[in-house]
Amino acid sequence: MQNLNAIGVPTHYIKTLNMREQLVRDVEIIPLEVVCRNVAAGSLSTRLGIEEGTPLPRSIIEFYYKKDELGDPMVAEEHITAFNWASTQEIDDLMALTLRINDYLFGMFGAVGIKLVDFKLEFGRLYEGDMVRTVVADEISPDSARLWDVQTNEKMDKDRFRRDLGNVTEAYVEVARRLGIVKQQAAGGESVH
Ligand code: TMP
Repeated sequence: MQNLNAIGVPTHYIKTLNMREQLVRDVEIIPLEVVCRNVAAGSLSTRLGIEEGTPLPRSIIEFYYKKDELGDPMVAEEHITAFNWASTQEIDDLMALTLRINDYLFGMFGAVGIKLVDFKLEFGRLYEGDMVRTVVADEISPDSARLWDVQTNEKMDKDRFRRDLGNVTEAYVEVARRLGIVKQQAAGGESVH
């Protein structure tokens, strides 16, 4: 979130209080999950019969309606505007911000040997006087992204849990270590920077 703020992508993030808590702005969450995909995996592979790991011809953005009872169904722009979940202008903002974030994160993870296969974003409305701004909210983590080791294609994300592959914590720590968020100690523990 700090890095996104630094490149001019507005987020709800204000500051880190400790390793478990962040101070964030109070936003009105837009009821959409915005998924950006660079490589076929997960529900896209299942739905369209494209083998996992196939690079996509270009980055693809999908919208899902945030409704747990319905299992977050995929929706089209037609549904979003007809049911007033977001305006046409907001959809344009979501797509532009998502592509910008994808470019940034793809490079950030690529630099530490991690392939950004796909990820999910949520956005909120930040009311500032008469102005409303669309900002990134929620989280970006191995829980909401697919991260594969560039060399081995080993999964370093929540699919280790979803698919019962084991070593979930080790994979998350390795992502944090490569990004310089935690430092692996010789004794095997982690220390926080
Ligand atoms: P999918 O392939 O299951 O549709 O997931 C695409 C990406 O979105 C993947 O990185 C996981 C993330 N995601 C979430 O974070 N929360 C969700 O509820 C869903 C469906 C996907």
